[in-house]
Amino acid sequence: MIQYRLERITKIFPRHQVAIDGIDLEVRKGEKVALIGPSGAGKTTLFRMLNCTLRPTSGRLCIHGENVETLHGRPLRQMRRRIGTVYQQHNLVPRLRVIHNVLSGQLGRWSTLRSLISLVRPSDIQLAYDALMRVGIEDKIFTRTDELSGGQQQRVAIARVLIQNPEVILADEPVSSVDPSLAQTIIRLLLDISDCMQKTLLMSLHSVDLALAYFPRVIGIKKGKAIFDLSPDKISEDLLADLYSAHLPSFEEEKTPDEESRSPVYQ
Ligand SMILES: Nc1ncnc2c1ncn2[C@@H]1O[C@H](COP(=O)(O)OP(=O)(O)OP(=O)(O)O)[C@@H](O)[C@H]1O
Ligand SMILES: [Mg+2]
Repeated sequence: MIQYRLERITKIFPRHQVAIDGIDLEVRKGEKVALIGPSGAGKTTLFRMLNCTLRPTSGRLCIHGENVETLHGRPLRQMRRRIGTVYQQHNLVPRLRVIHNVLSGQLGRWSTLRSLISLVRPSDIQLAYDALMRVGIEDKIFTRTDELSGGQQQRVAIARVLIQNPEVILADEPVSSVDPSLAQTIIRLLLDISDCMQKTLLMSLHSVDLALAYFPRVIGIKKGKAIFDLSPDKISEDLLADLYSAHLPSFEEEKTPDEESRSPVYQ
């Protein structure tokens, strides 16, 4: 089953800023894919099109066989709910208790009145508890969110996505603001969730090492183009140097070993 099919997807922002430049991509249901590439390469823009909050300028984007271009209003909102996004800035409300932040993942399904008075039914508590148990912090369910550590807050953000029960999890640099060992824990957690619950997982990462260590498929994005789409064992130092160099050397340009030694350090 194909989760995503992208054909020549392009996004041009006002003032002719080409953020995504003709990307073709196919992602199967349940697949785990990492996106790497320099700042400004277009990773977030691509994710925003994949979660249907940004429309492509041209090209065709199909999710589970449905052409997103034809969706408006209610069907579009329903499609958005099938995709959960975890951000680097997790956008939790600090003063609320964990349970309310987690349940806000359901907001699209709540009536306005219920969300306003934040009436929590026992079945909601159970839902939140189950999601928090998956991320290992069920004991924090009634704690105020701003009393949690950064890593615990990131887990709350993941629980909030889980409660939405999405088919797809998009994680846009979910570990940039946590320490390296916690970064690994959170990546493992998302991979486990993807495995156990058959959810498609796409994650953008600034750390090449983490992408190569944990993902079976890694896509390199540069200047809005996918310059490679490979398993980690096929990704050479040269490919990585091209990905992070200021410009792609043309075929005529031979790189000297000296130039290579000056390539940027990968985090
Ligand atoms: N709303 C916008 N309006 C105009 N240009 C934009 C907008 N959003 C992004 N861009 C431009 O599109 C390009 C890609 O940006 P994007 O945020 O997708 O990069 P990124 O790969 O996520 O970078 P980073 O690793 O720093 O998060 C950049 O040149 C950026 O300036
Ligand atoms: Mg980004």
